Amino acid sequence: MKKLEAIIRPEKFQELREELDQHGVKGMTISEVAGCGQQKGQKGVFRGNKYEIKLYPKVKVELVVDNDDVDVTANIISRTCSTDQVGDGKIFVSAVEDVYRIRTGETGKEALQ
Ligand SMILES: Nc1ncnc2c1ncn2[C@@H]1O[C@H](COP(=O)(O)OP(=O)(O)OP(=O)(O)O)[C@@H](O)[C@H]1O
Ligand SMILES: [Mg+2]
Repeated sequence: MKKLEAIIRPEKFQELREELDQHGVKGMTISEVAGCGQQKGQKGVFRGNKYEIKLYPKVKVELVVDNDDVDVTANIISRTCSTDQVGDGKIFVSAVEDVYRIRTGETGKEALQ
């Protein structure tokens, strides 16, 4: 199993939710976050005053999916959330060792959706 952590534009979330639902993806965790991209780390001084790098509001969507579904899920996110402008976001993929459904005690793939 893999976890996809997608950082997307907040205004794209509703459309993504519907698109994922149509592809049978039910489980996800959403957070409102703030972040910055390529400009990260730049520090400016303007007339003697340091200014802070702006943080932009983003939505983080976390989805744990079967290994076989990583590409199709990432493609749905990319297609739906792209505007071709800077700041469209990123998808981070990492390994997940196991999952338990608390209600039934199912584990692994059985517990995913
Ligand atoms: N390396 C990173 N680690 C963690 N979060 C990141 C990283 N890069 C981007 N993000 C998150 O993704 C959001 C969107 O990033 P953004 O799309 O601006 O990335 P970028 O690398 O600047 O690409 P682009 O050139 O398309 O803007 C950021 O606001 C931040 O929350
Ligand atoms: Mg950027």
